[in-house]
Amino acid sequence: MAAPLIRLARNSDAHCIAVMSRCLIEVGLRGWSWDPARVTRAMRHREVCIVVAEINKHIEGFAIAEFGDTRMHLSLLAVNATQQRKGIGRALVEWLEQSARTAGMADIQLELRANNPGARFFYAALGFEFVRAVPGYYSGIETALRMQKTLRTATAENLEYQFSFKNIHL
Ligand SMILES: CC(C)(COP(=O)(O)OP(=O)(O)OC[C@H]1O[C@@H](n2cnc3c(N)ncnc32)[C@H](O)[C@@H]1OP(=O)(O)O)[C@@H](O)C(=O)NCCC(=O)NCCS
Repeated sequence: MAAPLIRLARNSDAHCIAVMSRCLIEVGLRGWSWDPARVTRAMRHREVCIVVAEINKHIEGFAIAEFGDTRMHLSLLAVNATQQRKGIGRALVEWLEQSARTAGMADIQLELRANNPGARFFYAALGFEFVRAVPGYYSGIETALRMQKTLRTATAENLEYQFSFKNIHL
């Protein structure tokens, strides 16, 4: 088996990502929220980053993140059932977390279905903390659990950067 590769998603991945969302995340919810058209629109959005994990040219996992001014929101994450517990989910989140740190984000926030203890354990293992329950978050019916990981504290001192002038004599 080839080593998993994490790369940015392409337009041609949209259908596969949407089907994975429906089957692995949205299962049992009313309607198909992240259908192929929505995934394609998200790919074109300059504040959205979609990454996929590929093994032998087959997409086995994906993540969708939105970058705000100071917060990255992890909108969707899934790994095919046959490839779970092999470190793919962790690798996808770490890839995005690294990008968020580089972009100066203060934290990462996400919601997961309250009836998904496996995902809650997964995010806790990656350093996310429970914030609060959000009733009706899914289809106006189902409760979500909000979790968050702090990347930096927003003190001005942390943002200072000292450098030396070159060829300028003060
Ligand atoms: C949640 C999910 C993305 C995790 O992806 P994964 O590739 O299986 O996770 P990893 O192998 O990277 O797991 C990293 C660590 O998280 C923890 N973890 C992962 N899944 C877990 C589970 N079901 N129960 C308890 N702990 C779990 C473990 O500590 C694991 O390390 P270990 O395997 O060395 O013990 C995957 O299970 C999935 O796609 N589930 C269906 C969709 C979903 O729930 N998405 C998230 C909410 S939107």
